[in-house]
Amino acid sequence: MEEREISQAVIRRLPRYYRYLGELLEHGVERISSNDLSRRMKVTASQIRQDLNNFGGFGQQGYGYNVKYLYTEIGKILGLEEDHRMIIIGAGNLGQALANYAAFEKRGFILKGIFDVNPRLAGMTIRGVPVRMIEELGEFVKDNEVEIAALTIPKDKAIEVAEFLVVNGVRAIWNFAHTDLNLPEHVIVENVHLSESLMQLSYKINRFNKEHKK
Ligand code: NAI
Repeated sequence: MEEREISQAVIRRLPRYYRYLGELLEHGVERISSNDLSRRMKVTASQIRQDLNNFGGFGQQGYGYNVKYLYTEIGKILGLEEDHRMIIIGAGNLGQALANYAAFEKRGFILKGIFDVNPRLAGMTIRGVPVRMIEELGEFVKDNEVEIAALTIPKDKAIEVAEFLVVNGVRAIWNFAHTDLNLPEHVIVENVHLSESLMQLSYKINRFNKEHKK
């Protein structure tokens, strides 16, 4: 398939398509029309056609989409057909919660290690993965060819740790620390800020309340 630049907006929507198609597959659905998918996803059928046309369009007039094929192709686009080796830095509340979430592994995100500075956490294991001390980090990252590091540490430590990870070959940072990392261009950073999502929720509540007071 020809590679072309896909807009960020489309890429943001792909995981949702992937989830819906995965559920359809689990229920034995082999094909689906854009109208049917549209009803389920509450997205317009034309949006679906437009989005999926970015990849050459997998649909056929009068047949709809082949669910398995579309699921597989979107998985490929999202880079899910290959495993990704991941570590978590910071074994506190959030780091432990992420480490405990087994479903990431099903998507191919393999948790190789968890690191912390707190010696009291040394030796603890989460789903069989031991918490290691930060002194081992550089060597571990190189030996295990770690690709992704999740940062769940205080923000004042995040920049320094991220730079260290990059120097040791980590290519992508899943950043939960509330700070911008400004890393070299070749490093991929995905920021996740639940509080921003919560503020959007609060905005929607606010707007709803105002509209219903009129
Ligand atoms: P926590 O205090 O429970 O855990 C932080 C852990 O990081 C501790 O175990 C600590 O020993 C460790 N740590 C500190 N410096 C370190 C270093 N240099 N290297 C390795 N480990 C180090 O805190 P919690 O609740 O787990 O939050 C962690 C971070 O995630 C905080 O920065 C918090 O603001 C952020 N956070 C972000 C959210 C988001 O949506 N982005 C949601 C919740 C928390």
